[in-house]
Amino acid sequence: MKKIWNWLALAGMLTACSPVPTQTADYRVIPLPDELTTGKGDPFVLTSRVTIGYPEGNADMERNARFLAEALAETTGTTATLQAGAEGAHVVRLELGLDDANPEAYRLTVEKNGVRIAAPTPAGVFYGIQALRKALPVAQGETTALPAAEVYAAPRFGYRGAHLDVSRHFFSVEEVKTYLDMMALHQMNRFHWHLTDDQGWRVEIKQYPRLAEVASQRKETVIGRNSGRYDGVPHGGCYTQDEIREVVAYAAERYITVVPEVDLPGHMQAVLAAYPELGCTGGPYEVWTMWGVSDNVLCAGDDRVFAFLKNVFTELLDLFPSEYIHVGGDECPKSRWAACPKCQARIRQLGLRTDSRHTKEERLQSYVIGRVERFLNEHGRRIIGWDEILEGGLAPNASVMSWRGTQGGIAAARQHHEVIMTPCDYLYFNFYQSSDRENEPLAIGGYVPVQKVYEYDPVPAELTAEERPYIVGVQANLWTEYIADLGLAQYMALPRFAALSEIQWCRPERKDFADFKARLPRLVDRYDALGYRHAELKPEVLDEMPLTDGAW
Ligand code: ACM
Ligand code: ZN
Repeated sequence: MKKIWNWLALAGMLTACSPVPTQTADYRVIPLPDELTTGKGDPFVLTSRVTIGYPEGNADMERNARFLAEALAETTGTTATLQAGAEGAHVVRLELGLDDANPEAYRLTVEKNGVRIAAPTPAGVFYGIQALRKALPVAQGETTALPAAEVYAAPRFGYRGAHLDVSRHFFSVEEVKTYLDMMALHQMNRFHWHLTDDQGWRVEIKQYPRLAEVASQRKETVIGRNSGRYDGVPHGGCYTQDEIREVVAYAAERYITVVPEVDLPGHMQAVLAAYPELGCTGGPYEVWTMWGVSDNVLCAGDDRVFAFLKNVFTELLDLFPSEYIHVGGDECPKSRWAACPKCQARIRQLGLRTDSRHTKEERLQSYVIGRVERFLNEHGRRIIGWDEILEGGLAPNASVMSWRGTQGGIAAARQHHEVIMTPCDYLYFNFYQSSDRENEPLAIGGYVPVQKVYEYDPVPAELTAEERPYIVGVQANLWTEYIADLGLAQYMALPRFAALSEIQWCRPERKDFADFKARLPRLVDRYDALGYRHAELKPEVLDEMPLTDGAW
């Protein structure tokens, strides 16, 4: 018996000394790097003897080293040692100082004697780590060969977003963190957190306790697409300010900036339920239990509304370091304003008039957005609004999120305003992703298969060379009327996030859908390893198919 143990120990030592790689990394990941040169020299063999080196005394890089160690453990079962300043054989070195105009670029160099991930910033190093992570095969306990290579990438867009609506359905802090993990895997850097809407307010504001007590709770929810039947189940949730800070910090560790949205002056019925004096009619109002666009909006003629907004944003600015603050501006019906003496008095006082381009109520909306913008600019921030903020005249420094198509984005770029493209026909991930809609979970409608996302070019061809740089980013949106839990949110986001990440990173000449499809299964294996739900890679999900039922 003893002999057998000795023999086994010897065999184990031999394997440890001269491991034979049983699997090989593949750097053709998603998003596809810009440059990839392989074939020079022997591979680096990844074993548990690997050390991760990082610059001494740099907390961001030390954290990056921990992320890399986790990534290696996640797929290969390798337990790496972390060591500041480590060099030499069997070391994966994380380095700053890459000379590159793009702060988020990374360069991964693999040689027999070591691996190096270099970037101008810790964020770039993080993307290099994510790329290496995705290059590794998804199998535990194996020895992996990393072929000798030079890999380089720099993202096409500085704003690479994903949005999550937590008003229509509430998502816990842990669930939001998982969503951020999904974003990090896809090398995204802006989390647009849609925190408020008619169906629920989701952030504690100390000066307005009824937002948490009243505005965050609805008594029930309509079944299906406004069927007229209700589930009778209360739904609610509100993040404490400490929880918000926790999420913002978690995101920042992954180089993701949280862009909060307080949607105004429409989509405010939940606030009115708590503070009815902020509405034109004075209420009573209830937190909305159905979907759609409510007529009950903030009263633009009442100074208490502006005091409310100033106080709310003052607390939010303390929570969110983001330069951009999203103020919504979409879908604000003007019927209440047209009938409200206070709003009409404001219109007269400001001398607003209807002309061939805009109604006086649309101009009143521009006044509201402009006033909020002034306040935020004075505090060193910039606003983003949905493309409706173009109606009635654009606030002077506003960035525009183009969602009803691309025309709003084109108009804003022509006025030299920054634009983030999120056209619903291509980037609303709450739309169906399969042509086989009968067998999909209920969704709002539409049809956005992976191919449609992939083939979208965020920079409209009709813009001039001078106007094109105003397209600073691209984002997908996930509205959650019909998405009640994280598993379904993942199902709707994946694998469309993969196509999104490639349009966020890659220049159009690098894109090739057939090649992308060939690379996708390996990323989907990782979704499985991470326990992320996703749509199946079937033709009706991947490829754009003709719709036979004629429905929207
Ligand atoms: C939106 O989808 N209402 C911006
Ligand atoms: Zn009013």
